[in-house]
Amino acid sequence: MKKILVLNGPNLNRLGKREPEIYGRNTLEDIQTMLDQVSTSMGVKLEHFQSNHEGQLIDRIYEAADSGIKGVIFNPGAYTHTSVALRDAIAGSGMSFIEVHLSNIYKRESFRHHSYTAGVSIGVISGLGIQGYMAALHYLAMYS
Ligand code: DQA
Repeated sequence: MKKILVLNGPNLNRLGKREPEIYGRNTLEDIQTMLDQVSTSMGVKLEHFQSNHEGQLIDRIYEAADSGIKGVIFNPGAYTHTSVALRDAIAGSGMSFIEVHLSNIYKRESFRHHSYTAGVSIGVISGLGIQGYMAALHYLAMYS
């Protein structure tokens, strides 16, 4: 069965409580449950990982690559805008990444307009809320 990693970066463990007017009221667990339900019908098995630590996200990327995972749905949170190290890990992993943001980062503060990770991802979905994760899953289920 095809496996896809759903990777979430810093502060996304606080979804539901964190700035709900921007990120909505769903928790990360709600998102994971919704993705699991849909992925089963697509014949895809998901692995989930969230961390507030850059190095742990990098380690998890390489672990996924070494275990044969081909596709990753990644919301890098604020590391999107700061992390050359995550960009390098994505570029060196050999896996296909779709970058997802719940909010539309281009409608927000200018420091969010630049993504270090977008240029090494297949595509970016920003501003569609939890539906962005679903769209990424549909794409990777077909093409990764
Ligand atoms: C985010 C957008 C980032 O700018 C922010 O730092 C986050 C969440 C999003 O999902 O909209 O933590 O990635």
